[in-house]
Amino acid sequence: MRDRETAFAKINLALHVRRRRADGYHDLETLFAFAEEGDVLHATPADALSLTVGGPFAAALAGDDPADNLVLRAGEALRMAFGVTAGAALTLDKRLPVASGIGGGSADAAAALRLLVRVWRLPAGDPRITAISATLGADVPACLGSVATRGDGRGDRLVGVDAAALTGMPLLLVNPGVALSTAAVFAGWDGQDRGALAVGAPWAAARSGRNDLEPPARVLVPGIVAVLDELGAGEGVRLVRMSGSGATCFALYEDARGRDAAAARIAVARPEWWRLATRLR
Ligand code: C5P
Repeated sequence: MRDRETAFAKINLALHVRRRRADGYHDLETLFAFAEEGDVLHATPADALSLTVGGPFAAALAGDDPADNLVLRAGEALRMAFGVTAGAALTLDKRLPVASGIGGGSADAAAALRLLVRVWRLPAGDPRITAISATLGADVPACLGSVATRGDGRGDRLVGVDAAALTGMPLLLVNPGVALSTAAVFAGWDGQDRGALAVGAPWAAARSGRNDLEPPARVLVPGIVAVLDELGAGEGVRLVRMSGSGATCFALYEDARGRDAAAARIAVARPEWWRLATRLR
């Protein structure tokens, strides 16, 4: 039997960086939301745990040691915690650009946890799964649930929000084709605390918020400005912002027509940019 799980693309509707910490991370406040689409992970029963990477963005990972892939690290951590002796042959269809601010490895790791918990029949609500997710990366706990949520601390202290107002909102993701190291973008943050992210209704908080990583990302990839300009140029745009540490930017629209018009316009104006027209889940 072949089982599958989508590694839903993560976006940060807002991301406020508050302070640099002694452990090298930053305390932040963010509103995570998730797209309906993402990388896709498949599993078939096998004696050993293995990973094959394919899909349009597989080449970006070709030089990496597979053992370092967060998907395999997630699997190994589950095996260790629960004493699993079975394996799984995993294939990852890498559909989203790598190192681009929309989850990538974090979403893949979270999808691996969800998928292998099912395949190996582990207890789904076990707190060890959440604990493992936090060891794999700051965004992995949020990606595990893949529903809109607020993240404090490193982004891994999750606070539930009323996500219903966001679900189904038309979404366009655009990436100018330059990979960005998350650590490098955080290192470029100017250290200025510009204030807290509003609490309460997520849409109002997102609208009044900002992404503090956008200025340092723009220094590294000036093309982000053009992406934001193109996304904001059309009709019915509700919010335009960079996601995470970039360089992927997103726009949310009043209706699918506005989104599709923007996607069509950008496809002609900037055919070299990667685009995904989808919705918030
Ligand atoms: O946790 P993750 O491996 O995804 O983080 C990648 C890098 O991003 C970290 O090594 C750190 O440099 C930076 N980061 C940070 N503060 C956060 C999250 C990530 O400084 N809250």
